[in-house]
Amino acid sequence: MSSPNAKEMEDLYELPVYPRRDIVLVRGKGAKLYDDQGREYIDCASNVGVSNIGHANEEVGRAIHEQYLTLGNCYGMFYNPVRARLAEKLVSLAPPRLRKVFFCNSGAEAVEGALKFARATTGKGEILAAMRGFHGKTFGALAATWGEEYQKPFVPMMPGMKHVPFNNFQKLSEAVNEGTAAVILEPVQGEGGVRVGDKAYFREVRELCDRKGILLILDEVQTGFGRTGTLFACEQYVEPDMLCVAKSLAGGIPMGAVLCSDQVKVPVKSHTSTFGGNPLACAAALASLEVIEREKLPERAKTLGTYLQDGIKAIRSDKIRETRGLGLMIGIELKEKAGPYVQQLMERGIITLLAGATVIRLLPPLVISKEEIDTVLSTLREVLG
Ligand SMILES: Cc1ncc(COP(=O)(O)O)c(C=O)c1O
Repeated sequence: MSSPNAKEMEDLYELPVYPRRDIVLVRGKGAKLYDDQGREYIDCASNVGVSNIGHANEEVGRAIHEQYLTLGNCYGMFYNPVRARLAEKLVSLAPPRLRKVFFCNSGAEAVEGALKFARATTGKGEILAAMRGFHGKTFGALAATWGEEYQKPFVPMMPGMKHVPFNNFQKLSEAVNEGTAAVILEPVQGEGGVRVGDKAYFREVRELCDRKGILLILDEVQTGFGRTGTLFACEQYVEPDMLCVAKSLAGGIPMGAVLCSDQVKVPVKSHTSTFGGNPLACAAALASLEVIEREKLPERAKTLGTYLQDGIKAIRSDKIRETRGLGLMIGIELKEKAGPYVQQLMERGIITLLAGATVIRLLPPLVISKEEIDTVLSTLREVLG
């Protein structure tokens, strides 16, 4: 399929909010993507963590097709068996204290919901978030997201948000006061440069929250569904009171969710969503979860992630400052701007992401093969070595 005018048309008709790459993607299969010139790429971006099960999964495709022809939409005021099954499934997979689900459509919406639920539950207004944290770009989520480049054009921000340094318990505990409703953190900061949370720090934060009656929200929009070597990264950290998920939840169909403990209380009608929990997305999520479980994708992410990270660490390069990550969520921090290297990798058939100015971020589909990883490693060696 050729799309000769896609670039010109998108530039002409869409608001220019995305920093564009100069290719037109038309097709994907597994961990491969194809452009309109028929060129093949190894995907190390997964649409920023969406395509954990790979592209064009046939089981998910069939589930979507069948569900659309059965009942595609069903507003949350009516019960629906597919939504019921997904809610039960997610609760069964989540850490034990998370026993209720709120369904929405994106990561920002999940965060937005969690922030509102924290205020509704505690009757308090203040939220603590981490510097370099990323939680989305709707107004509530944006207030939690760190960074002038995102916030400045849209001031004033939602009041009540305070940022503290990540992995620094002392600073976080000093910022807590009587009005603190919640703390929101990513177990591994994605957009902020693939910065892995310190386990002792998370344990201390959990204990502090328990002591002070503060709700702990973990944002696993990017780390969720196997990416870090366990289904949820929090399994390697601590149980939250609310867990935000989205991106890869429904095999590529837009969906988000907040998993909540029994402590979370929200008045009827106070927070709802027209498309939240629509049967189409629920059917896709059920099919995708089946693939993740059957193919043991979290274990795969752990093994292949170690292999990939070790391979990168073995590259002799004076350009690399540090390689870090968890599972198949890996950041290569350079001593210089990473943009030109991301471009060179793409020209050589490897699609990667930036995470800040100096970090190349790798988020391949968890179905990526060892051979594909070897190609990624040899290309990285060529470009960075
Ligand atoms: C940790 C985290 N939270 C929230 C979001 C926002 O998700 P969405 O783009 O679906 O609104 C992202 C997106 O990258 C994310 O990485």
